Amino acid sequence: MKFIAMDVADSKKKMLDMIAIQLQKPGFAMDRYFYRSHFTYQAELESVIFKSWLYAGHVSQVRQNGDFFLFEIGEDSLIISRDDRGQIGAMHNVCRHRGARVCEESSGNKKAFVCPYHGWAYNTNGSLKRAREMERLDGFDCADYALKKVRLVVFEGMIFINCDPNAPDFTLPLSHIAKPLSPYDLASARVADSKTYRVSANWKLCLENYLECYHCSSSHRQYAKMHTLAAPDEKVKPINEAMLARAEDITGVKGITDDHYAYYNDSSAFGACSYHSRYALYDGFKTGSKDGEPVAPLMGKFRGYDGGAGDFQMGPLAFMLNYPDHCVLYRFTPRGITETDMEVVWYVNGDAKEGVDYAKEDLTWLWHHTTLEDEYIILRNSEGVNSSFFEPGPYHPDYEALCSEFVRWYLLALERWHSSDSGVAVKRNNVSSLSK
Ligand code: FES
Ligand SMILES: [Fe+2]
Repeated sequence: MKFIAMDVADSKKKMLDMIAIQLQKPGFAMDRYFYRSHFTYQAELESVIFKSWLYAGHVSQVRQNGDFFLFEIGEDSLIISRDDRGQIGAMHNVCRHRGARVCEESSGNKKAFVCPYHGWAYNTNGSLKRAREMERLDGFDCADYALKKVRLVVFEGMIFINCDPNAPDFTLPLSHIAKPLSPYDLASARVADSKTYRVSANWKLCLENYLECYHCSSSHRQYAKMHTLAAPDEKVKPINEAMLARAEDITGVKGITDDHYAYYNDSSAFGACSYHSRYALYDGFKTGSKDGEPVAPLMGKFRGYDGGAGDFQMGPLAFMLNYPDHCVLYRFTPRGITETDMEVVWYVNGDAKEGVDYAKEDLTWLWHHTTLEDEYIILRNSEGVNSSFFEPGPYHPDYEALCSEFVRWYLLALERWHSSDSGVAVKRNNVSSLSK
């Protein structure tokens, strides 16, 4: 953990002033203030992270009644569990007595969550079952002290949560990418592996790095060798057009090439981004692997390799890169002002058997190495951005357009929630998604 000294002069006014200055510089990287301000970090947890739809996990992690796993965000912990009626739910891992965590194990199976402090016991749906000695007190009712609920949506087997009880619906935005996503049959897919890369850098630096491929040709030789996204559009246009023309026939999937662009400021509601686009691998590569050859059986309804990959976004901090034989999910979670969890999850066909149909090392090779390369450059980026002499430069208008988009969305969200004591949005022109 990199220690960042507290600026004692930091305040809401300073944050709003910095936002106003930054918004005057569209297309430029953000001032180091936004990566170092403790005040801003707290504000963004409240107004960006805890108001967004976030990928929590996969239904296979809660297959049986009583199965659960934890999802840690910042200093918070959520329990995702399947209750004794088979319903999947999410709740805060905070005892309603005096606040101890009721569950410490990161996953498992339980009949009840028993608080280690004074022994209050909660059912797997979060309702309070027993509060030792309290039940005899006049006016005490267990029904008043259930674990606090968190909003939850299951889409194609993936579990998304939102800590804002008034969060807008996420089902409709996700339905716009259902056509190209559902053929992977992720609901019955197997999580072949998942790795958490704890990176000592602010979450926005980690995310911005994912949002652009300007760095791909210099930082990811293996990736750039097979994915056309790393090259200028005009140069790879014919390869993409040829892939799009054959994609439906070869994969056997209608709608596999349907694009949908609704990220950040274009999403229909705050924190509910959904995006899909299919792009080509270079000729001779069937999938994202060391030699471009398949590393697992075809997913779901796929019937062949079209030389394409599906690029998805679901919510502001979760992404997927899907090849015909495996899918790779990427999630960014802030854990502190200079700590971010980058979680990578590899999905394969639900019938595939490890050691027979796929080898974990071959399956994970490309994105494990690519993530280590990313970690290396993000750490260097973080060191430089934290320098007193860092002066932000321009984003490339094409290659880094999505970084500009994210920065504007982020600044407007912070401004919206903190510009007045009542949290009422300020009126700015073109604040499309925030006013919806
Ligand atoms: S804090 Fe959980 S029982 Fe007291
Ligand atoms: Fe990268």
